[in-house]
Formats: sequence, structure tokens, C-alpha cells
Amino acid sequence: ETVEWDPEQAGKGEYDHFMLKEINEQPTSLAQAIEGRIDPANGRIALSDFEPGTFEGIDSVQFVACGTSYHAALYGSLTLNQAGVRSSALLANEYSVSAPPVDDETLVIAVTQSGETADTLNALRQANAEGAQTLTVTNVVGSTAAREADDALFIRAGPEIGVAATKTFSSQAVMLTLLGQRIASDQRGEPRADTESLLAELASMPGAIADVLDDSDAAAIARRYADSQAYFFIGRGLGFPVALEGALKFKEITYEHAEGFASGELKHGPLALVTPETPVFAIFTGEEDEKTLKNAEEAQTRGAPVIAVCPDDHPAVEAADDHLEIADTDQDLAGLLANVQLQLVSYYAADLLDRPIDKPRNLAKSVTVE
Ligand code: AGP
Repeated sequence: ETVEWDPEQAGKGEYDHFMLKEINEQPTSLAQAIEGRIDPANGRIALSDFEPGTFEGIDSVQFVACGTSYHAALYGSLTLNQAGVRSSALLANEYSVSAPPVDDETLVIAVTQSGETADTLNALRQANAEGAQTLTVTNVVGSTAAREADDALFIRAGPEIGVAATKTFSSQAVMLTLLGQRIASDQRGEPRADTESLLAELASMPGAIADVLDDSDAAAIARRYADSQAYFFIGRGLGFPVALEGALKFKEITYEHAEGFASGELKHGPLALVTPETPVFAIFTGEEDEKTLKNAEEAQTRGAPVIAVCPDDHPAVEAADDHLEIADTDQDLAGLLANVQLQLVSYYAADLLDRPIDKPRNLAKSVTVE
């Protein structure tokens, strides 16, 4: 008698899909990313990948990326702006027609899981040719991006098989937040005043993600709203890239209509789409939450159910129809916990629809064409 052995199934271990496996790997992959790179006891970012003062002469930062990596880049760019460093996140596929000017004091950071995305490589090459300093934040050692950028920072997430990027988003966003703090402190000559508490919260992130994974209501929420017409995601500040990412993941694997908006944009047009059949996931990161709550309530007035993604003791819990819980953490990191809840909602919604979750139609893991 022969035993059937399917290497793909073996790779998934106890999980039905690589995506769910990779979502569940996040406590470990994130711990790997920050290992040796933070020193919470001394309030120090120990990014030994770069000599102290490496970024002293940087005047501005441009991030280039696509898809989920673009959302991580936007996240990184917002943390840099909040830290007082001029920065912007640009879609790599738009870079050749709309790049802001660069010089040797511009740092262009290509964010790419695979390091092989054609659009992102093109933007990186353009930045190199125009004399910018370049850096890639990537998961793949030896990738084209790692070879062609002046420097590389590896996110150490381990291989990601599911076409939908999950664990790599979390590691990218965290590494970009750390890198941003390093750039800001190199520029200022000193770290931000509350570095110690940020690093302590960062060190507790793998545990906080494990808590989300252990006790998430995402499957029940996915079931409750399974017959909806469209799914909207709103957030403000760092909640905005998470809203975009929540919607991308949702549409990518469920094939349902999903859109992410900056909370305050809802009233400038998208509100016309809101009905009792369009649940709104509202992400609260501690950045002007009262405004996001007001925006969510405007949707609720039009009959849309609101699912608040926030800590347990948050005022939005009372106001919303449903709740996905995250720990109360630094506002630089809250969005990452919210994102894990939304990854799970997408996964379970797609599973109910019986979609080929690891290989959604029309998509490839690495897009090597323009
Ligand atoms: C995300 O779930 C997608 N599969 C896609 O948006 C992806 O993030 C994008 O193609 C960029 O890939 P990269 O990070 O390898 O450059």
C-alpha cells in the first residue's frame, strides 16, 4: 500500500490554506523581524544594518511600491511625516509619469515583498539613474531589488506562498516604522522623546497579534455580513492605509466589491453608495477617533451596519453594531492589530464563498510585467 503525499498539503500543515497559515505565523514572523533590531530596555533602535548617522544628510524620503506593499509604504510614509521627516508614498507604476524631483539628498525606498515586481524595479532604476540614494525593504535576500538598490533592509518574514500578502505587510509596516524613527533621529541628532514606550509596545506586538488570533470574532462577522452588496473600510491617519489594505485583501480573495476610504472622505462622494447592504468596517487607531466615529455614524444613519475595530473600552463599541477587538497600544501600531482582524474577516468571507483563496483568479504572486 502506498501513502499519498501531497507536498502542497504538507506545506500547509494543519491549515486549509497557506493564507490562514501565514496569518497565524505573524507572531513569529514579526518577532523574527524585530529580533536584535530593537533594544527596549535602553530605549534604542538597534538597526545595525545601518551605521549611526547614515541618514543624517537625507532631506526627504520617497517610497515606491505596489499593492499591499504600497499600503505598507503609505503607513511608513505617514509615520515619517508624523516624525517630522518630509516623505511621500508613490505608486511605483505611476513613478515614471509623476515622480517628484530627486537629488542626492533624497532617499527612495522601494518596498517589495518579492523584490521582483517590474513596476517597482522600474521606479527604483529611475531613482538610481537620477542620482537619488536608494534602499529596498524586501523579504527576499538576493532578489533583484536587493541587488540593485544601494542598501537593503530585510523583513525576515519567511516564504509567503499565498498570493494575498499577509504576514509580509505586518513586517514591512513595522520595519518601516522602525526605519522611519532611525531616519528621524539621525536627522535630529536624537531619538524622539517617547522612543522607549514605542519600543516596549513594539516588543509586545507579537503577543498582541497572538491574542487577536486566539480570540477573534472575524469568522462570525464574516458569516453575519455574507450576503452584503459591498464592503467598505474607513480609517484616519495610520488607519487609512489599513482601510485600503482591508479592502484590497477583501476584493482580492472574495471577488466581492470592497473599497477603502479615508474616514473624512466618505461624505465627499462615497456616502452615495452606502445602504443597509454595505457594512462599514471602521478602524480606530487613536488618531482623532471622535471624527472617525462621527463619519461611521453618518453611514449608520443611512442604514449601514458599522463594525468597529478598536479596543474593548472604546466609545465606538457602544455606538457600533459589531466589534472586532484589538489591544490598546501605541497609535503607531494599533493599525497593525486592526489589519490582522481584517485579514481574518477576508479569509473567512472568501472561505464561505468557496474561493480558491491561495490562488485568486487573474492574479500572480509576483507581477513581473509592467
Ligand atoms: C497583495 O495581496 C497582492 N498580492 C499584491 O498587491 C502585491 O502586494 C503587489 O503585487 C506587490 O508585490 P511585491 O510586494 O512583491 O512587490
